[in-house]
Amino acid sequence: MKVTVVGAGAVGASCAEYIAIKDFADEIVLIDIKEGFAEGKAMDLMQTASLNGFDSTIVGTTNDYTKTAGSDVAVITSGIPRKPGMTREELIGINAGIVKDVAEKLIAASPNVIIIVVSNPMDTMAYLAHKATGLPKNRIIGMGGALDSARFKYRLAEALECAQSDISAMVIGGHSDTGMVPLIDKAVRNSVPVTEFLSEEKQAEVVEATKVGGATLTKLLGTSAWYAPGAAVSELVRAIALDSQKMFPCSALLEGEYGLSDISIGVPCIIGKNGIEKIVEIELSDAEKEKLTASAEGVSKVNDLL
Ligand code: 2OP
Repeated sequence: MKVTVVGAGAVGASCAEYIAIKDFADEIVLIDIKEGFAEGKAMDLMQTASLNGFDSTIVGTTNDYTKTAGSDVAVITSGIPRKPGMTREELIGINAGIVKDVAEKLIAASPNVIIIVVSNPMDTMAYLAHKATGLPKNRIIGMGGALDSARFKYRLAEALECAQSDISAMVIGGHSDTGMVPLIDKAVRNSVPVTEFLSEEKQAEVVEATKVGGATLTKLLGTSAWYAPGAAVSELVRAIALDSQKMFPCSALLEGEYGLSDISIGVPCIIGKNGIEKIVEIELSDAEKEKLTASAEGVSKVNDLL
């Protein structure tokens, strides 16, 4: 498998690093517009191969898309990240042009590529990628839900004082501070609903901390996070590489599922060698449906800005 990661900033470099460490890709191409930057990151990462025990080759390039030719998967992380106090939505003006341009160049070099969109506002950038490229809908995946679900599991494990591996939980809806819908009533600790262990007040706290997970980190770091976003991307790429048919909430183009159309938003998806193999329509409670509908309205408003 050949994977391209566009943008060698913190998120892109973390994607490349985790993909390399998991050792399922033959070649990882890191591409950036800043002269020599991706080459430097790639060389630094390649010098960890004997230490971290991987055989993937990482190649860096300054804006030469011919090096990305024949990629099976491409991850778009390019654009500006948010600064403290900014919402993901405020990045739309700059990032829309970049994402469109990058998606077109990727497809020109790799006509069969599956694209994973990470740039923010992610749901709108994934929607834009669909509109700009006209790729079949299984081949554009918005990465948000896998990350938000990991943050949800972290908060749940913290509240339950247990190992994160005990927890299974999902966040659907838009990848924004107000749009996320952490499905707390469906979250379990080893098949036992977490709601059996947590007071309603604690549940509300966990949900709120999950929704502002990215903003909390942006405040602490002065820029947006990279380890968990990189790890979440690497899991999606691995599911494609291994055709593992794993379920992740991803931003997918909806055509009537969950009563929504002409929108890309986080819903449970089966990920395999064709990208989004299937959108899974799970039974939602009335309250969950209401939250997802409100979230979709928020995403649509941002899409209108395009
Ligand atoms: C985050 O939530 C990068 O949007 C990403 O950290």
